Parts: sequence; C-alpha cells; structure tokens
Amino acid sequence: MNQLIDGRAVAAQERAKLKEKISALPGRKPGLAFILIGKDPASIAYVRMKKKGCEEVGIHSHVLKLSDKITEGELLAEIDHLNAKQDIDGILVQQPLPKQITTDVIVEAIDPTKDVDGFHPLNMGKLLLGHSDGLFPCTPLGIVHLLKTYKIETAGKHVVICGRSNIVGKPLAAMLCQKRAGGNATVTLAHSQTENFTALTQSADILIAAMGKASFITADMVKPGAVVVDVGVSRTQSGLVGDVAFDEVRKIASWITPMPGGVGPMTIAMLLSNTLKGYLS
Ligand code: GUN
Repeated sequence: MNQLIDGRAVAAQERAKLKEKISALPGRKPGLAFILIGKDPASIAYVRMKKKGCEEVGIHSHVLKLSDKITEGELLAEIDHLNAKQDIDGILVQQPLPKQITTDVIVEAIDPTKDVDGFHPLNMGKLLLGHSDGLFPCTPLGIVHLLKTYKIETAGKHVVICGRSNIVGKPLAAMLCQKRAGGNATVTLAHSQTENFTALTQSADILIAAMGKASFITADMVKPGAVVVDVGVSRTQSGLVGDVAFDEVRKIASWITPMPGGVGPMTIAMLLSNTLKGYLS
C-alpha cells in the first residue's frame, strides 16, 4: 500500500532516451521557441525549467521576451515569423496571456505541426479521434506515461478526473477512453457543477485531481487502494501545494504522486518529446 509514483525518476529516464535519439540525428538539431510575455514570476519559472530541459537533451531553444503591452497583431506577426523558420520545430506561447490578447486566436495561429503544447484545435481533434500523428497536450501525456511505466492498468477501470480544463481534464479524458493499450478506461469528468462529487471520487479506481484547489481531495473522498494523481499546484501561505491532501491520502492510496516530483517533471519531458516528434514529422 501507498507507494510513491516517482515522476522525477521517470522524467529523467525519458530525457535520457530523448538525448540519445537527438544525439544520433544527422545534421541540424530540433529547435524550440518560447514566447514569454510580461513578468509573471510563475511563467518565468516555468519557461526557465522548460529551457533547462531542452539544454539537457540537445534541443536548441530561445526565449522571445515580449512586453505585456504587446498587441494581438504584433504577437501574431511574431508567430508568423516563427512558423516560417526552418530551424524551429516547436513554438510555445506561455500562458496566461495579457487581457488584450485572445488566447484562442494565438493558439490557432501556431502551425499545428509546431504546436508542441498540443492546444491547436486540429491537434485536439486528432486526439479525440484517436489519431496518433498529432501533437498532444504534455500534462495528460505525462500522466498516461506514468501510469504505463508503473504498469497501472486503465482498461475497464473507473477513472475520475476532477477538473475540465482544456490543458488537462478534457484531453486526458480523451486519451484514457481510447480503444487501445493505456486507454479503455471508463472516464468520468467531474467539475465544479458536478452533483454528488464525493460519491464519484469515492468510486474512482484512479483519481486525477486537476482542478487547482489546494489540498481539496481529502482521505474521506478516496477509495482505499485507489491510485491518486495530483496535477494541482497552488501557492499558499505554507508554500506550493497540490490538489490532494497528501499526508492523509497517501495512507489509503495504493499509488500516489507527490507534489513536487510527480506530474510536473513529466509535463516538461513530454514537451521535449513533442518537440522531437514535431522535428521528425
Ligand atoms: N501555462 C500553464 N501551463 C501551461 C502549458 O502547459 N503550456 C503553456 N503554453 N502555458 C501554460
């Protein structure tokens, strides 16, 4: 009972595999461009960690730092420029964006073959249809990768995903319900309007907490022996905490991700993997 899912270790293994593949590439190396707008400390920290991952595996990257006063037209021009660059295989516009910019407009302007976040509607459509040739969102990919690595069966299991974001909840639901290995789950997507929320979480064989509410999932909401995956990161007075009340839930879960050191490192590893996939496609 209560074993830790070590996202740091699995991500390190994944980076080592990517490094080997990239070093074996003849000629030019994959390239990833980050667009960082404004001075949000969390965004700056995330981009720094992603760039460090690139350096480790041999992806060349650069960060385009732009003012938070930038207009939508100016940002679209920067994206057009990166779309056309032969040595750039991935474009990542770190969110959130300033309020004068419509996120959907920006996401749709990125060439879908360079959309390493997997947020473009074309890639989301491919994901839903079960195609394998698209680029898919990194956090859900990382969660599926962790479950596979730990040989946690999803077929026929009840997976309850708490949180319906476009970045995590919706794409993860699409991945886990596909008719193939690593999928075949019975998925429930619970959210803030869900009735009998606790009864649902209690019925989960695999519970994914991705709603961004600090320590929301408590032990009484979890079936003993369930697998618990914590995607949340909230800044509180006691530091960064996940969506799961870890100390009490770990006592009854069969497997649980810590925070930090669970899903986060996997998200970055999958971004690097998507960049190589974009390069190879
Ligand atoms: N902001 C929070 N998470 C993400 C992510 O996965 N990608 C981008 N581009 N911005 C984010």
